This record gives sequence, structure tokens and C-alpha cells, in this order.
Amino acid sequence: MDDLFQNPIGAATCFCAVYGQPIRHSGSPAMHNPALAKLGLDWRYLAFEVSPDALGQAIEGARAMHFVGINLTVPHKLLAIELVDVLDESATTWGAVNTICFEAKNDSGDWTSLGQLPNPATGKIRAKGHNTDADAIALALREDLGLRLGGQRVLLLGAGGAGRVAALKLAAEGVAELHLVNRTVAKAEQLAGEIAERFPQTKAFVGYPENTDDKIDLLLNATSLGLKPEDALPLDESKFSLSNAPAVFDMVYQPAVTPLLARANNADCRTANGLGMLLWQGAKALEIWTGQPAPIDLMRTALESHIYCDE
Ligand code: ATR
Repeated sequence: MDDLFQNPIGAATCFCAVYGQPIRHSGSPAMHNPALAKLGLDWRYLAFEVSPDALGQAIEGARAMHFVGINLTVPHKLLAIELVDVLDESATTWGAVNTICFEAKNDSGDWTSLGQLPNPATGKIRAKGHNTDADAIALALREDLGLRLGGQRVLLLGAGGAGRVAALKLAAEGVAELHLVNRTVAKAEQLAGEIAERFPQTKAFVGYPENTDDKIDLLLNATSLGLKPEDALPLDESKFSLSNAPAVFDMVYQPAVTPLLARANNADCRTANGLGMLLWQGAKALEIWTGQPAPIDLMRTALESHIYCDE
């Protein structure tokens, strides 16, 4: 990794990291380290396998060692809400933390990212929790499928952790109709209730659109189906035909063309996988830590070559 950077790791090098379990598959170090080098920062981005019962200790360790920030992935995003000192509005709005920024007071007394302080922090350091996943969904849909969400009709498959944030973000962006389909129907019902309460301008329905020839603007898969070769299709094609969806987004990004996306390509839909979401949540985290625009094209290329090099 050091050949990316002008200088080898030294006593002044700063660190950030991703915590998750499992973590070995993570593409985040491969995406962030070239970006840090490009920005000319003497920082490194690491990855650690952290179990949920050790998350608090791992966050405290990072704080004690003046890490700049941490990304959190499965299964830590909900747990972290209770473990940080302060929540950014993004974390309270979406109910999950995927990015922690360690902050200290600058000379004017304002809390500032350790990554943006001119000198090493001497006083108290606080952990601030952010959520960059929700914005990443909207950005990926816009950048990869050219979608504007306001007024659109969306069929969303999955009401787990990722599906919930997607549904709430889509509603916040002014989607007109959301059809929520989930294996465990009670979760879709609960989510529809939350949307009715928080975003009443969006009509939330549980289940597929009533008529099989009803058109929608976007089909979004937020289930984990498609990750494993033996997985069933997340869509029941007897209830909804892909010919009624001009655009299909699959949050799964490995394989690059999931069985759902292959079916959608055959039906001439515009398609994109979830790599863009991973990219944008990382780019937003980097911007919070550094205060600088993320080198997005470089990050996308690095991520693609890391994830798809064996395909
Ligand atoms: P994540 O945080 O990635 O969303 P999750 O909260 O476990 O993970 O959600 C996984 C999603 O995939 C859920 O919508 C889940 O459906 P249930 O809520 O019924 O569990 C869906 N899913 C996983 N395996 C599935 C399967 N074999 N068939 C149908 N849906 C499945």
C-alpha cells in the first residue's frame, strides 16, 4: 500500500478505519487509500473485524489513539447510535450511524474534525455519528440511472435495514408511491406505517401494485437475494413484469450483473448495481473527515478493480 503514498507510515500518520463482522470482503480500504494519497494526506485507511460486543471498546480505542474517523458496516449501524457522544442530524433522521468523525475544539472553540485541525488535539475528543448511506442511495440513483425521485412510483423489494433507509430516503425525496414487498410482511407493514406518519405526501402500499400491467418508474432491490449463486430472484414475476419498469437498481453489487439485473437487461430496462451506493457513502464520509471534495472518479475505478478483478 505504501507505494501509493509519497511518504511511508511514520509517527505523524493519521488513521481511519472500517469496523464490521465479517470484514474481509470490504472494498473500503481499496477505495479510500488511493483517495487519501491523491489528496496528499499522510493518512491510512484500515479494516478491522470487530464483534458487536466489542464495538464500544473499539470506538474508545480509536478515540484514545486519535483516529480521524471510522466507518461502520454490518452489524454495527444501529448499535453505534448509543455509543457515540453526539449525533449529526443525518443519523437522527435515518436512525443509523455508518460514519463516526472524531472531533476536538479548534482555537475558536468550535468542534472540528481531527482531520482538519492544524495541530494534534490536546483537549477532549468527541465521537460524532453521521449517516451517509441515505444520501448515497439518492446520489447513486441519480448518477447511475439519471433518476429524479420527486413524483415517481417505486417498487421496493426488501424492508430490512437497507430497505428501511432506502424507503425513508425515497419518501423524503418526494416519491409519489412506494410499493413495499418483503418476505416478512409485518416488516413492510411497519415501514409503511412509519412512512405514513413521517412522510404523508408519499403513498405507501404493502405488496405488489394491484394490476399486473401497472407501470412504475423504478424497481429497487434492497434484499440480500442475488449475493449467492443459489439465491431465488427477489422479484415474483407472476405478480410484476419487468417490462413495466424502465429502470432497475439492485443494491447487490457482487456479482456485477445479478440474476435480477440480467433479467432486467433482457427486458431492456436501464440498470445499475449497488456499487455506486458504496462509492457515495464512502465519498461523503471522506468529505466529512477531510473537509475536501472526494476524488470520486479515482475512488470508483479503485473500487471496481478491487471488487471485479476476479470476475
Ligand atoms: P440489510 O441490513 O442488508 O438490509 P437485513 O436487515 O437482514 O440486512 O435485511 C435483509 C433483507 O433481505 C430483508 O428484507 C429480508 O427479508 P426478511 O425481512 O423477511 O428477513 C430479505 N431476505 C433475506 N433472505 C431472503 C430470502 N431467502 N427470501 C426473501 N427475502 C430474503
